Amino acid sequence: MKRFLDLISEEIKAAFETSGYDRELGKVTLSNRPDLCEYQCNGAMAGAKLYKKAPIMIAQEVANRCGESKVFSEVMAVAPGFLNLKVKESFVAEYLCQMAKSLKFGLDMPQTPSKIIVDYGGPNVAKPLHVGHLRPAIIGESIKRIAKYAGHDVIGDIHMGDWGLQMGLIITELNKRQPGLVYFDENFEGEYPKEPPFTLSELEEIYPTASAKSKEDAAYKALAMEATFKLQSGVRGYRALWRHIMDVSIADLKRNYNHLDVEFDLWKGESDVQDLIPGMVDYLKKEGYAYISEGALVVDVKEETDTKEIPPCIILKSDGASLYNTTDLATIMDRMEKYHPDKMIYVTDKRQDLYFEQIFRCARKAKLVEEETELLHIGFGTMNGKDGKPFKTREGGVMRLEMLMQEINDEMARKIEEGRGEMDEEAKETAKTVALSAIKYGDLSNQASKDYIFDIDKFTSFEGDTGPYILYTIVRIKSILNKVKEQGGLPKEAAIQEAGSVSEKALMLQLAGFNAMMEAAYQETAPHKVCAYIYDLANAFNRFYHETKIVSEEDQNKKAGWIALLMLVRDLLEICINVLGFSAPERM
Ligand code: ARG
Repeated sequence: MKRFLDLISEEIKAAFETSGYDRELGKVTLSNRPDLCEYQCNGAMAGAKLYKKAPIMIAQEVANRCGESKVFSEVMAVAPGFLNLKVKESFVAEYLCQMAKSLKFGLDMPQTPSKIIVDYGGPNVAKPLHVGHLRPAIIGESIKRIAKYAGHDVIGDIHMGDWGLQMGLIITELNKRQPGLVYFDENFEGEYPKEPPFTLSELEEIYPTASAKSKEDAAYKALAMEATFKLQSGVRGYRALWRHIMDVSIADLKRNYNHLDVEFDLWKGESDVQDLIPGMVDYLKKEGYAYISEGALVVDVKEETDTKEIPPCIILKSDGASLYNTTDLATIMDRMEKYHPDKMIYVTDKRQDLYFEQIFRCARKAKLVEEETELLHIGFGTMNGKDGKPFKTREGGVMRLEMLMQEINDEMARKIEEGRGEMDEEAKETAKTVALSAIKYGDLSNQASKDYIFDIDKFTSFEGDTGPYILYTIVRIKSILNKVKEQGGLPKEAAIQEAGSVSEKALMLQLAGFNAMMEAAYQETAPHKVCAYIYDLANAFNRFYHETKIVSEEDQNKKAGWIALLMLVRDLLEICINVLGFSAPERM
């Protein structure tokens, strides 16, 4: 379906044209004086210079042409030359009826869907998830879901850090503790045990212990580096241990991401592309993209138009070791080969901006991707505590994600219990659902690149620009619909009718903006646009609700129209929270 604003612009554009002016001047925008009008057009102001005429004269001419409008109930030229517009009730109602009938509520599907890989999450195996992993998970999941809703073919890849020194550290510490393990016996040729020689909680303790030791003890660190090297060069026992670490850790990651309602299509990691590195290095050398500089193998990526220094992309260190860069480039190659994506989106902390600039330039220069392949880095800002500094535990440490979730679940449960005066299993589940909305909405309602303050009190509030407020609105609508059902059923084929009040019309106009909003959220990779939209929608609905007695309305026809309207509000709110990555309970 055409976007509502485009549709209503057409008539104003035509009026500009028949008055002898450039058609494009007729672009309509939302009103910035909602007290005066619903929409406006500033084209006469721009046209004044072009046609050397007073803007008000142009505006007046255009307004005169709109006398017999199907779209507008009011087109008014006002000083110094604006056009104030109001849309006809019948026109909006007709548009919403069509929307309600159309497959994706008026959002047109692409003729050829793009294949998109979203690389997000990026946890490092064997280290517990901490609050730093929250943003990539939340933002990446939403970007993925928005693109899916927009009709694209989207693959979410977790891209684990599973090949670095942390693995060598764990193996080293295990060796110290249990030197008799068969994995350390070089002469062992049999099958390794199926059961891992450690539990998850042991693993979680082993890594920090080993990491601390390696910082104090150079010999220990050397051992860990050697173990890493042995693992990477394929020593059997080390590979088997690595597999155990992966299995135990991935099971835990899955559980954690599950709590966040975050789901990956691919569980790939840095380890998956190690075998591709030698071939890629040969290629980069042979084609002359890479050269040796101060012992390291590098690819220059600076460009003439650069205003800041962009250092070369290092492919191999002087000791021949590969780096984070190398793996990311090999992963790009691998993805092109296996999935041939049109677009790859990376969601990481914005401190990796320069890094991805280098990687993307290198991939382009060395033709690891095609000219049309889009490479996009969505760099997010820091999640801060109320003191404005990066979020920490009360003791000043890094907070585990599970702890944070627990805290917010508890706070939500407390609020729900306070409201209901009791607590049962259903209430506990509800608390979790609402808590997740609090966290995710609190994050996503900010533009991703900005820092924000993680404020539990604010995020869990049922009022204001919060997840719980949105859920509360959905639950309210569901409860009205249920009441009407109990009264004897909902009309089956009811259509949305012309608005009978200012608040009803405002609600309808807000609904009409759905497809344009969703398209923008996809095009601009901007979940915060979805949040802004549903906040306005929820407000518009609640204003209407407070002024309108729906359930007790006598006029059955009128009531049926409202029910149809409510169902559309509910559906759009639910679609939106779904692409944001959370859901609504039945009651709160
Ligand atoms: N594991 C990385 C880190 O902890 C994040 C990975 C992001 N994705 C990527 N393809 N580099 O910083």
